[in-house]
Amino acid sequence: MGSCSSCSSGNSPQGEGCAMAGNQPGNAAQCPAQEDKLKKALQRIKHKILVLSGKGGVGKSTVAVNLAVALALEGKHVGLLDVDFHGPSIPKLLHLEGRRPEVIENGLALPIEIEGGMKVMSLGFLLQRQDEAVIWRGPVKMGAIKQLLTDVQWGDLDYLVIDFPPGTGDEPLSVAQMIPDADGAVVVTTPQDVSTVDVSKSITFCRQLNIPILGVVENMSGLICPHCSQLINLFKQGGGEEMAQRMGVPFLGRIPLDPQIVESSDQGRPFVFHHQNSESAAAMRKIVQPLLELS
Ligand SMILES: Nc1ncnc2c1ncn2[C@@H]1O[C@H](COP(=O)(O)OP(=O)(O)OP(=O)(O)O)[C@@H](O)[C@H]1O
Ligand SMILES: [Mg+2]
Ligand SMILES: [Zn+2]
Repeated sequence: MGSCSSCSSGNSPQGEGCAMAGNQPGNAAQCPAQEDKLKKALQRIKHKILVLSGKGGVGKSTVAVNLAVALALEGKHVGLLDVDFHGPSIPKLLHLEGRRPEVIENGLALPIEIEGGMKVMSLGFLLQRQDEAVIWRGPVKMGAIKQLLTDVQWGDLDYLVIDFPPGTGDEPLSVAQMIPDADGAVVVTTPQDVSTVDVSKSITFCRQLNIPILGVVENMSGLICPHCSQLINLFKQGGGEEMAQRMGVPFLGRIPLDPQIVESSDQGRPFVFHHQNSESAAAMRKIVQPLLELS
């Protein structure tokens, strides 16, 4: 792997971790009437894909947005649902901050449709301020998520991609238990041991909940040089793939740490659409191939 003369970087690929302190377990067990309502609300969705990670800041939301857009670019009807109450980042990533979903008859809300027809719903649309989320109590959060799952009129979708809260604690657990018939989980990690150890817990988490693992994505794997666009093997690569092998689950592929992904994300422009010819976008499109083959 070549490296370039112009780069010396002390960047850390790790985002900040997410504190999951002090929350009560959500009401995981549901009554049959609620289960029915959920099933009915989501029955016109062919495939439900959970994007999760045992660790915060590894790029779950970035991966969720770009996988959803990559599926839409394949001509699929796609919805993207953000249930991360720690800091719903989908509105920011798609430049939809401050938008409010339209409420139609029966109190149902319409997801916000973006260019290309992808439909988006986020807990962030329900919050007045971004920092409001942190003061919610567990049961209130769960109520809001239940509402997001039951009271949104998605219409017919091929895929609903769901961006999960980080970790394997009570909150993601409660949300996962609310979603009937999920096709499976895409588990995001960075290559370092400090991430893969936490993220392997997500796989155990899914197994305990009988959620199939669609595969592991190794994000921030190598660095795309901002000067010459060469891939530099700056940090350890392959940790996600090794972890997938060790845990006996498919490996979907790796996405490099790419300054243009940060820039795109900060501008609210989905990378995979706006940089279609880049190596990183090709990596993202490769990762959705197995998802396109779901029957
Ligand atoms: N492949 C990548 N290359 C460069 N930057 C990336 C990449 N993936 C994610 N990022 C950046 O890393 C930061 C964290 O990403 P993101 O918000 O998607 O992580 P997350 O796992 O959803 O975090 P949280 O646990 O807080 O929900 C963002 O600034 C994002 O732009
Ligand atoms: Mg996120
Ligand atoms: Zn370079």
